[in-house]
Amino acid sequence: MGRAVNLFVSITRSPEETEKAGEVLGRALEIGDVVLLIGELGAGKTAFSRGVARGLGVRDRVTSPTFVLVRNYQGSKELVHADLYRLGDGALFDLQMLELGMPDVVTVIEWGDRAAGSFEYLRPLTIRFIPQNNPDVRVLRYEGDPDAWSLRLSRAGLEIRTLDWPLPEN
Ligand SMILES: Nc1ncnc2c1ncn2[C@@H]1O[C@H](COP(=O)(O)OP(=O)(O)OP(=O)(O)O)[C@@H](O)[C@H]1O
Ligand SMILES: [Mg+2]
Repeated sequence: MGRAVNLFVSITRSPEETEKAGEVLGRALEIGDVVLLIGELGAGKTAFSRGVARGLGVRDRVTSPTFVLVRNYQGSKELVHADLYRLGDGALFDLQMLELGMPDVVTVIEWGDRAAGSFEYLRPLTIRFIPQNNPDVRVLRYEGDPDAWSLRLSRAGLEIRTLDWPLPEN
């Protein structure tokens, strides 16, 4: 199993900036990739996902899949956008039924921490959304196996800084 280290940290100051960060990542994603988004309610995970979709050439409006759990979108690559929030209360679904992390699609999972262990073997990119005292500001921390992600992220223009892990939450 690869090492998980901090690969990149960015600060966004509006939902639009978070969406833009998602778009930059989306342009660099390839089929088979799994991105886990972790952060509290209202952290900006859906805003980021919307940007990822745009970066993948999806034209449909991306909405939160909180109640349906998974939605698929067609772009230049297919996007599977999931939200595992409801797995927290009662785990109604067998995770396998959701068929996440398939090799022919890009998978983005909100509340990815609810099932992080299930995706570890796919070497996901994990992005933590860390709230700040200023309600418009978020710190986005990208973590993953550098063998899987460093080159990809640097090609996307994301400056890689391999930082000590873990960083403090604030
Ligand atoms: N820098 C920022 N980035 C993203 N959203 C921000 C930022 N500043 C303020 N916001 C606000 O935070 C909210 C983020 O909502 P969003 O639906 O993206 O969160 P979420 O993490 O998907 O929440 P949920 O867990 O309910 O799915 C929006 O109301 C947005 O306007
Ligand atoms: Mg959401």
